[in-house]
Amino acid sequence: MSLDTSPSPAGRAGDPVYYGGDYNPEQWPASTWREDVRLMREAGVNLVTVGVFSWARLEPQEGRFDFAWLREVLDLLEGAGIGADLATPTASPPPWAATRYEDLAPVDERGARYSHGSRQALCVVSPNYRRLALAMTTKLVDELGHHPAVRMFHVHNEYACHVPYCYCDHHAASFRAWLQRRYGTVEELNEAWGTAFWSQGYSSYEEVLPPRMTPTFGNPAQLLDYKRFTSDAYLEQFLEEKQVLRAARPDVPITTNFMGLFKPLDYFAWASHLDVVCTDNYPDPGDPDSTAHSALHYDLVRSLNKSAPWLVMEQTTQRVNWRAHNVPKAPGQMRAMNYQALGRGAAGLLFFQWRASRSGAEKFHSAMLPHSGVDAPGWAEVVTLGRELARLGRLAPARVQAEVAVVFSWPNWWAVEGVAQPAQDLTVQGQLDWMLRSLYQRLSTLDFCQPGEDLAPYKAIVVPSLYLLSDAEGANLVSYVEGGGTAFISFWSGIVDERDAVRLGPYGGPLRPLMGCDVLDVAPLPEGQVLEVEWEDGARTTATFWADVAVERDGKVLARLADGPWAGRPAVLATAHGAGTAYYVGTRLDQAGMARLYDLARATASPGPGPGTERTVRRDGADRYELLVNQTPTEREVQLTWPGTELLSGAAVSGRHSLRPWGAAVVHSKEG
Ligand code: GLA
Repeated sequence: MSLDTSPSPAGRAGDPVYYGGDYNPEQWPASTWREDVRLMREAGVNLVTVGVFSWARLEPQEGRFDFAWLREVLDLLEGAGIGADLATPTASPPPWAATRYEDLAPVDERGARYSHGSRQALCVVSPNYRRLALAMTTKLVDELGHHPAVRMFHVHNEYACHVPYCYCDHHAASFRAWLQRRYGTVEELNEAWGTAFWSQGYSSYEEVLPPRMTPTFGNPAQLLDYKRFTSDAYLEQFLEEKQVLRAARPDVPITTNFMGLFKPLDYFAWASHLDVVCTDNYPDPGDPDSTAHSALHYDLVRSLNKSAPWLVMEQTTQRVNWRAHNVPKAPGQMRAMNYQALGRGAAGLLFFQWRASRSGAEKFHSAMLPHSGVDAPGWAEVVTLGRELARLGRLAPARVQAEVAVVFSWPNWWAVEGVAQPAQDLTVQGQLDWMLRSLYQRLSTLDFCQPGEDLAPYKAIVVPSLYLLSDAEGANLVSYVEGGGTAFISFWSGIVDERDAVRLGPYGGPLRPLMGCDVLDVAPLPEGQVLEVEWEDGARTTATFWADVAVERDGKVLARLADGPWAGRPAVLATAHGAGTAYYVGTRLDQAGMARLYDLARATASPGPGPGTERTVRRDGADRYELLVNQTPTEREVQLTWPGTELLSGAAVSGRHSLRPWGAAVVHSKEG
């Protein structure tokens, strides 16, 4: 069933803003369930995820199932008008399964097998795991899939979270089959992996292994393919469960929970298979950059499947328990963080978890209902937010439209952070932080696009270190600029093809028409070295980390390195190409330099809503909702773009508007 016809529990006119969390009733006596449901109603909860970690309780021995207790929970939820996001419990196989079938558990790169006693001790390729997971899913949907409380199916949990890579013999066999489908002959595999290097040539597929422990660097192309293969292998298992659920209930949407910028899985490839894209986000309130990281996280998740709704499946109310030092959110900050997600288009705001556990490894993780119960200050915040969201249901069909896109791909991420690079500390997160920091201060929101996606809807694109791309993807970026687009492209882009083989000649491959210079070599700078950069008008900024050793070609040099061994070399160039312009940045400019750069294009030159505040817009036809959030503990003033009605207070507002500490405003107005 296609996304268009699949009924989604989110994003349609008449839908509420979903509010709730993971509910683990198996951790509590049945007497507590009634209190849970009563308090859920008090807090405005309308959706809870059940069953995520219930496998041992639902199937206490192989083939012996017990669904009665969960049916009772669903009855209680239904009686209270609370929907259920029914999860398949396949992320945590029970001890009987691990004991009976040794191959269920994953193997590390040294050949050691993981044990049960925690969660996610599973090898996704193991035939025993697949058989048991499928049997569990089939039985679950047979028994409970038609319960009227069920609003959505939630497959597994955070795929690949704890043990992303398994190196067992099942994986070896499956990897070989995957490679054979991709390359055909072993000669082609040898060519693709460049095995002439270090005497790695294979005489048959039987000799090929997962990248187990090796004395020094493994083959980067093999490592890259193992990442591709692993993402595909998890997806195959997801699709197996999805098929069973869909066949039984074609009318119920299906999801799984992503984790934003999570490296092991190519979420772009996954997201087209989800009816609702869900994510788990745990920003560190002790990190001053956490708001910016959440903005990026939500914008990325919204962009993964541009025709599906998305929601926050998990977050914490105050603090997690898995960092070394778990700083809580300040009173009020949780609310601000939720309005941030709402402004970026979230159709729902859910938490891990409903009730704080008494036992187990997460007993000190905050929950909607804390250990100390309804007297805890956190509870009041949960109730307040739930009541506010109940007034915002009209936002459900309203969409976010960004004008600027970041070009991003998982294969590039895997490759650019591969082994033995010129700068091992060049990370995707680091490049995103660098290129997007000042943009996020200016623009309300960014979209993320794959390099091969249609970029025409965007006024500008930002391309951070797109080291790996195909010829077709390169041509797509070039034709975007040709057609009138503006591109900001950073160093270490266009370096290799899909096989991680270097594109010879000056660096840049298919992106060279947009670079304006010939990059003849690259120079990672010593830590702490700061270079001067001189702009055309004589202004000076600085640069660190990296310098391209380039000579100008057809681009206009906007800034040059002004000292150091490469003084005089171009640092920033503008190249007119077709109807558009590309800006190429050959060094890591400081933020003042990046600001000068973004000032050059209309689409990126916005002054922004002011420090510590965020402004986002959602639109539904002529209805326009401007969300303003104060992400600081002090009062802030913001300028409203349009006069309108503030939906939380019901007041008519216009002009300058004051936001309380961690405050938010949702201003409705009509277009035109
Ligand atoms: C993840 C998991 C949850 C829980 C939380 C704790 O999001 O999906 O089960 O472990 O982390 O933060």
